[in-house]
Amino acid sequence: MKVLITGGAGYIGSTTAKALEEAGHTPVILDSLLSGPRAFVKNRIFYEGDIADRALLTRVIDEHPDIDCTIHMAARIVVPESVEQPYSYYRDNVAKSLELFDQLVILGKPRVLFSSSASLYATVENFEVDESSPLDPSSPYARTKLVMEMALRDMAASTDLRAIILRYFNPIGSDPNLESGVYAREPSHVLGQLVMAAQGLKDSFTITGTDHPTRDGTGIRDYIHVWDLARSHVVAVEKFDTALEEVGETSTVINVGTGDGVTVRELVETFQRVYDAPVPVTEAAPRPGDAVGAFANVDKARDVLGWTSSLTTEDAISSALGWFRKRKQILGYD
Ligand SMILES: NC(=O)c1ccc[n+]([C@@H]2O[C@H](COP(=O)([O-])OP(=O)(O)OC[C@H]3O[C@@H](n4cnc5c(N)ncnc54)[C@H](O)[C@@H]3O)[C@@H](O)[C@H]2O)c1
Repeated sequence: MKVLITGGAGYIGSTTAKALEEAGHTPVILDSLLSGPRAFVKNRIFYEGDIADRALLTRVIDEHPDIDCTIHMAARIVVPESVEQPYSYYRDNVAKSLELFDQLVILGKPRVLFSSSASLYATVENFEVDESSPLDPSSPYARTKLVMEMALRDMAASTDLRAIILRYFNPIGSDPNLESGVYAREPSHVLGQLVMAAQGLKDSFTITGTDHPTRDGTGIRDYIHVWDLARSHVVAVEKFDTALEEVGETSTVINVGTGDGVTVRELVETFQRVYDAPVPVTEAAPRPGDAVGAFANVDKARDVLGWTSSLTTEDAISSALGWFRKRKQILGYD
């Protein structure tokens, strides 16, 4: 199969491109390089440009009429920035995506796999959420994802568009060959912060929020190895039509996580075990908007896609450590 990946120069997109290649498929990348590095599209079919550029999309499809499915990952993704710049987030994530979807339908390419997020979920009592759990997106970023989910559902109800919406939990790690991974110079997410503290690039790792109603007071997440996440896309594109037939819908939402909740303290302990050295840790109050968290009920992914995660948190941590040791070779910076 040939698969268009918007945002394919990004962290998850480049890893997914590799997983598709390993499964014998051909990714075609459309990315503006707004944030993704050029190094991640080397040796791939690549179009540099914007998802809302209808003429460019038409050229991509003219040149690759055998594209079967589009994985729409292109987005702005930085939560605090979305609070400061809501216009840019709604313009890029919502308005531009609408142009993309409409043009895909016009071009006769109706299958869309959409990257949504677990940050849509409201906090529930035991922290386990399934696809029908209540939603309460707490940032402009998360709200753009909810708006897109609604737009996809409405468009799939009245046009040829068909959508599988994957709600990702918390991807960490790299691909098995350490060719792509987190590329931010100063990663803000928890594992990147741990790696920096371990390597002495920060004085300590700060646990923000220790009074949450979880088993040890710290936030809970479902950390999924990015390679498992990437492989869920391979299955979803391969089974796209049969999955929608099985659920009897024109669009559907599927959680992609491991099904296990891990607290920040537990993640720190696992990290120290894998790294085989202590990491200095301090504690602080939660940051504004910090969510207690959630982990995925993954029954639907198993039943509809036949997909479950197979790699452990330890695997993901050693993969992330390997990537951070190697990434200068690929990115040109530490
Ligand atoms: N990383 C996470 O923890 C996480 C969690 C849940 C969902 N997601 C979603 O997964 C997707 C991929 O995330 P990521 O972590 O790989 O992010 P990323 O920033 O690494 O990748 C996004 C890519 O989209 C490109 N892009 C942005 N706007 C564009 C536009 N208008 N036209 C063309 N290209 C554009 C960027 O250049 C970048 O390469 C996003 O939609 C994100 O919201 C990510």
